[in-house]
Amino acid sequence: RRFNVAVVGATGAVGETMLAILAERDFPVGKLVPLASERSAGSTIDYRGDDHVVQDLATFDPAGIDIALFSAGGETSKEHAPRFAAAGAVVIDNSSAFRYDDDVPLVVSEVNPEAARQRPRGIIANPNCSTMQMLVALAPIHRKAGITRINVATYQSVSGAGRSAMEELGKQTAQLLGFSGIDPQKFPVQIAFNLIPHIDSFLDNGFTKEEMKLVWETRKILGDDSIQVNPTAVRVPVFYGHSEAVHLETRDKITADEARALLASAPGVEVVDERKPGGYPTPVTHASGNDAVYVGRIREDISHPRGLDLWIVSDNIRKGAALNAVQLAELVAAEG
Ligand code: A2P
Repeated sequence: RRFNVAVVGATGAVGETMLAILAERDFPVGKLVPLASERSAGSTIDYRGDDHVVQDLATFDPAGIDIALFSAGGETSKEHAPRFAAAGAVVIDNSSAFRYDDDVPLVVSEVNPEAARQRPRGIIANPNCSTMQMLVALAPIHRKAGITRINVATYQSVSGAGRSAMEELGKQTAQLLGFSGIDPQKFPVQIAFNLIPHIDSFLDNGFTKEEMKLVWETRKILGDDSIQVNPTAVRVPVFYGHSEAVHLETRDKITADEARALLASAPGVEVVDERKPGGYPTPVTHASGNDAVYVGRIREDISHPRGLDLWIVSDNIRKGAALNAVQLAELVAAEG
């Protein structure tokens, strides 16, 4: 059977990768409908060598769509996802609009695929990119040794903030190398040759929303509200690939060798952990353009008897967003 697939936000950084991954993985697409705002309606995008005209989401009738992949921001999802679901489509939503609703499953394909079947509203939420890659690596450790606490600092690339953010990093880099002034637009301060400890909005507790996503989503996906998560999320001048320094505490002791062996056979994970120059994953050398979650620098915490340290890197646009969304579509398709 083939499925009529709508991609909402098809002209964006995640949307265009959704299209590429649907094609790469040979998803059984019947009709493909790219959708965006009226700004880019009427333009064409390529899917498997054919031009497809981008349609205006606001006026599009979703009747006949089987699966809709949404990645056009939370407000767009809130307004339009329910009408696609009402028309019979299964919506796979990459925004944070529905992630914390009890009747919307939040699914990482390698971690809790069974949860995708229970979707009373016809919506499945795709997790935040940072939580996604962290849990692909941590779920096997949690099952073996019981994670009680996670300290995590993220190093997040600009592609997570969309196409205009990538353009801003490129432009500022060129301007600064040419000794001209810059005028930050997308980010609050200079991003080229800098770091910004601020992603998404500030909340009353002093954490940013991006940081709290790591707390809320980890608990929901692992189904364990007792897990403590202490996050710091930082934007870095990298185009593709998020990195994370993760320090975790477990109920039972797990050695670095045991963790390495466990991760070596974990789905979606590749261990790159040689204790020599270049023997670890980085966004540019490993993650960018690839599907796996790469784990290196695996070592026992010298300050805690049941602590383990890891360095986790993955392409935020692929596993962190578009790839997982397509994997969820594959789970739905497999139901028949
Ligand atoms: P458009 O090309 O019409 O602006 P990115 O995350 O790379 O910035 O991409 C955002 C995506 O979401 C784009 O495809 C953009 O389409 C789409 N988008 C943004 N706002 C809306 C909206 N109100 N309705 C439909 N699509 C939208």
